[in-house]
Amino acid sequence: WPVFARDIEAILTLKRQHNAVILAHNYQTPEIFHTVADIVGDSLALAREAVNTDADVIVLAGVHFMAETAKLLNPDKTVLIPDAEAGCSLAESITAEDVRRLRSRYPGVPVVTYINTSAAVKAESDICCTSGNAKKVIESLGVDRVIMLPDEFLAQNTATQVLGIEIITWAGHCEVHERFTPEDIRAVRESYPDVVVLAHPEAPPEVVAGADYAGSTAGMADFVGEKRPARVALVTECSMSDNVAALYPEVEFVRPCNLCPHMKRITLPKIRRALERRQHEVTIDPAVAERARLAVERMLAVR
Ligand code: 13P
Ligand code: SF4
Repeated sequence: WPVFARDIEAILTLKRQHNAVILAHNYQTPEIFHTVADIVGDSLALAREAVNTDADVIVLAGVHFMAETAKLLNPDKTVLIPDAEAGCSLAESITAEDVRRLRSRYPGVPVVTYINTSAAVKAESDICCTSGNAKKVIESLGVDRVIMLPDEFLAQNTATQVLGIEIITWAGHCEVHERFTPEDIRAVRESYPDVVVLAHPEAPPEVVAGADYAGSTAGMADFVGEKRPARVALVTECSMSDNVAALYPEVEFVRPCNLCPHMKRITLPKIRRALERRQHEVTIDPAVAERARLAVERMLAVR
């Protein structure tokens, strides 16, 4: 990575000076993912690793809800996000007040909240989930009806796996995955008849139905690592293919993919500045944090 060499070198030195660890999501660009990151993974892995680290400072190379989750689990550590504006359309789609209203409309029905939400929304929830454990989390509740927020498509895709449990949904969508269409899948299969299509469950159900496998970003990476298909299409964020492709040069990666503008706000120079200036520090109102942490910890206890 010669063009990035100075930033990479500076970041590695700063990490040592600050006893810092960099947690990077699978959608980060390869020059972050393959050089300065200490831990890479999906949202679930980043939450789990945030609990295990003994660093003093956590830099979250990802979006704001991921940094907030790391802070919830490490109230005494400094958690930095290199760009405070790195948001998520799902997290924006629902407020704590919306959850309270749903609860009064469906009294007694447990609220399962996707980790792609604010701490305030998590605080109103019974338990969190990610795309990697949604089925297990819902089944762990032992009920026949749940409210699953805020990703309508993830809820609909999960409903096909938890038969006999009614799922009440919310109309939130990921702006990156909602744009995929069944036509995208038809087109890639027409161009490459042998292609194996993997989709993220934030994509619409009719897209997931046309894929060979649907799973979290870690699920997709593991699928490629285990099966090593000759040709694969990852129907998700574009950096995902770039990162996995670097690990398996014998596998050919073909499109479609879409870019997440929020994930792409994080760059090496911003990670460097975050460590130099200890910015942007994530803080959470303690009253909210306590209840939100419970929802995340209940999720982590589900195996
Ligand atoms: P994963 O938990 O599968 O990594 O998904 C996070 C995300 O933001 C997908 O759009
Ligand atoms: Fe949010 Fe979608 Fe971007 Fe993931 S890809 S951070 S769900 S907007």
